[in-house]
Amino acid sequence: MEKTKYGSLKEIGEVSLYTLTNKNGMSISVTDLGATLVKVLVPDRTGTLRDVVLGYDTPEGYLENTCYFGATIGRSGNRIDKGRFVIGGKTYQLDINDNENDLHSGNHGYHIRKWEAIKADDEKNSITFTLFSPDGDQGFPGNFKVSVTYTLTEENELVLHYEGISDADTVANLTNHSYFNLGGHDSGSIEDHVLTLAAKSYTPVRDNQAIPTGEVAPVDGTPMDFTFPKAIGRDIEADFQQLIYVGGYDHNFVLSDKTGEQRKMAEAYCEKTGIVMEAFTDCCGVQFYAGNFITPQEGKDGVPYGKRHGFCLESQYYPNSINQAGFPSPLLKAGEKYDTVTSYKFSVRA
Ligand code: BGC
Repeated sequence: MEKTKYGSLKEIGEVSLYTLTNKNGMSISVTDLGATLVKVLVPDRTGTLRDVVLGYDTPEGYLENTCYFGATIGRSGNRIDKGRFVIGGKTYQLDINDNENDLHSGNHGYHIRKWEAIKADDEKNSITFTLFSPDGDQGFPGNFKVSVTYTLTEENELVLHYEGISDADTVANLTNHSYFNLGGHDSGSIEDHVLTLAAKSYTPVRDNQAIPTGEVAPVDGTPMDFTFPKAIGRDIEADFQQLIYVGGYDHNFVLSDKTGEQRKMAEAYCEKTGIVMEAFTDCCGVQFYAGNFITPQEGKDGVPYGKRHGFCLESQYYPNSINQAGFPSPLLKAGEKYDTVTSYKFSVRA
């Protein structure tokens, strides 16, 4: 593990960059600002290293980060209807920061906090970051102690392990918001990437505010079907109400009706570079977001980023599940352990 100074921020102080490298030359860099994944260098089919995630050169970029590039999202990723929910008969109110709803836990997300790097394990090639989120933080009940461990294996697998505990019943639903581009972060649209999702159903949204209706609908016979390898761009502009509502893919795909069992959730392939990414999780859902709302901006190395230059596979509880009795519950009981693993594994196809 290599630690370097990343910068110094008025609001936060010194922030560092931690880099893990494996024997194949693959490396990942993570900053304690937001426990954010800044860089993922993967060999392509010619052996050239490509940085396959979008991001910024400086920590200042991550303080703005309205797209949440690489960010660790918490205490609860995705949307909560009107930012409101009830636990134990008491109503809790979060920030309203996305139309009439809460998105990614409001204005003071975990992605703009300084996390503490507590443990580097050279044998496992891992680094652990921890954060204390007090009772009432963002509007949630319970003092919540949370950590995320990044591991890079010799099999080119990036493993994210989230652990947490709260002293009162709360919502726990963390995710990582990396935008992948297997052609390299500087290679433009991801619409040519071929994607497969292990999801026979998804949760349709009510309208353009993207809160699920509560139904679980089959993907079969619709543009939402990624049960077979399909270019992301093939159907993305289809005349299909669900896509029109949110400007392309930005939906929760149903992996299971429960959490806890590791399974492959997705595979993506970029023909240009030969890079394949397989993704695994024990979560019940994944937000497949095609980067429809990436506003034109300057990213790493001064590269101009824009609409659909990266895609996200955010493992999660279904959106607004705290308010949907029919969805698996994201409620974390007092004293119980929150423990979940999502990983992204890279290889090449000749
Ligand atoms: C949401 C998108 C949103 C993006 C960035 C994703 O998790 O599903 O609707 O635009 O995050 O905020």
